[in-house]
Amino acid sequence: MRIAVYPGSFDPLTNGHLNIIKRASRLYDKVIVGVLDNSSKNPIFTAEERKEMIDKAVADIKNVSCYAFSGLLVDFAKQNNATVIIKGLRTVADFEYEFQIALLNKALNPEYETVFMMTDSKYSYISSSVVKEVAKYQGELGDFVPICNIEKIKTKFKNIK
Ligand code: PNS
Repeated sequence: MRIAVYPGSFDPLTNGHLNIIKRASRLYDKVIVGVLDNSSKNPIFTAEERKEMIDKAVADIKNVSCYAFSGLLVDFAKQNNATVIIKGLRTVADFEYEFQIALLNKALNPEYETVFMMTDSKYSYISSSVVKEVAKYQGELGDFVPICNIEKIKTKFKNIK
């Protein structure tokens, strides 16, 4: 059984993330989405809220599950019997950063392979940061995040003003 983890902050999940999850779910028997529970990154959404939004968005994909994690990614991968770490790439800047992290994870535990998946070009400009910027000023979110999560995102931004 080939199990892959797809880690991230997902603050919040974007259509770009969801596209990677769907495509990875066709390549692996099981895909575990790992939501980093790390308050030092000052996320807008709690890990529980981020997980809840991912659970909703992947509800119709049978071989995908989502858990929050803290600590090292390689330890999370081990706990879930995963052998592959999936990372999405949009730009060369993403690659430079992710290449370093992939080598670091390999040094921490050589059992895991990082597999890079290229973004679908229609999502290449989307990031959680731009979603938050648009949401802050009540912009239209329909092209950027799963429709099932829009209300949750809007409500959060109404409440933090
Ligand atoms: O979506 P992000 O914020 O770019 O995801 C970063 C993430 C969660 C993949 C990375 O920070 C991570 O793996 N953190 C867990 C701690 C760890 O293993 N650190 C060493 C590799 S960065």
